[in-house]
Amino acid sequence: MKGVILAGGKATRLRPLTSITNKHLLPIYDKPLIFYPLEAMARAGVEEVVLITNPEYSGHFLNLIKTGREFGLQITYELQEEPGGLAQAVSLAEPFARGSKILVLLGDNIFTQDLRPAVEQFKAQERGATVFATEVDEPQHYGVIEVDGDRVLGIEEKPSEPKSNLAQTGIYLYDERVFSFMDQLKPSARGELEITDLNNIYVNEGSMRCHTLEGFWIDAGTSHDELLEANIRAAELRRKGIL
Ligand code: TTP
Repeated sequence: MKGVILAGGKATRLRPLTSITNKHLLPIYDKPLIFYPLEAMARAGVEEVVLITNPEYSGHFLNLIKTGREFGLQITYELQEEPGGLAQAVSLAEPFARGSKILVLLGDNIFTQDLRPAVEQFKAQERGATVFATEVDEPQHYGVIEVDGDRVLGIEEKPSEPKSNLAQTGIYLYDERVFSFMDQLKPSARGELEITDLNNIYVNEGSMRCHTLEGFWIDAGTSHDELLEANIRAAELRRKGIL
């Protein structure tokens, strides 16, 4: 199992904070945001990790994270020259992760659950993918996962009539075939290779599973208010010794 952390993108919603740095280098309480997914990888027992970032601030990541030894990780860096979407960012991991299953974390997600049991279970499974979900009160604002048991029947982006209260997070497990599926993807209306289209390949073959996260989860990168909320919750959880 190898790890892929996505830390590119445009981060337009967090301007002007992101006019001077990459979103994932912004502070969340006492650490840069990128530390949280790095620590989550180490907690999950996935030690070989590729960090995908954009060229503009890539030197800052290198200065900060270096080899990754301080996190107990071996970090490789890959540049996404244009923000071509999440699936395109994942495809850049191919030279590093070809032939391996991968754990993909969006670099702006913070969560408390230890992924290790799910990762171990996935290693033992023959094929397929897993999307991690969290239960939310207002699913219409999220990608909503329709399930039958743990089997995913469909994922709908911000539906007006949600089929469940399970919101998709930025945590995924994919089998070794993931890179071979990339050439089936076509750019969306916004010109990006979408992770939803990649996930639908697994959904359509009936091999996508849903794993519901316990504990705290937040996508810190969507608005200034969510960024503030992430700071407040991270401080609270740290005081309780949880994060
Ligand atoms: P988003 O928050 O969907 O996109 P963004 O970071 O570009 O922000 P905005 O929509 O405000 O312009 O991205 C989710 C995560 O994926 C985030 O951690 C950045 C990462 N990402 C990439 O690595 N490459 C990409 O091409 C995109 C779009 C996102």
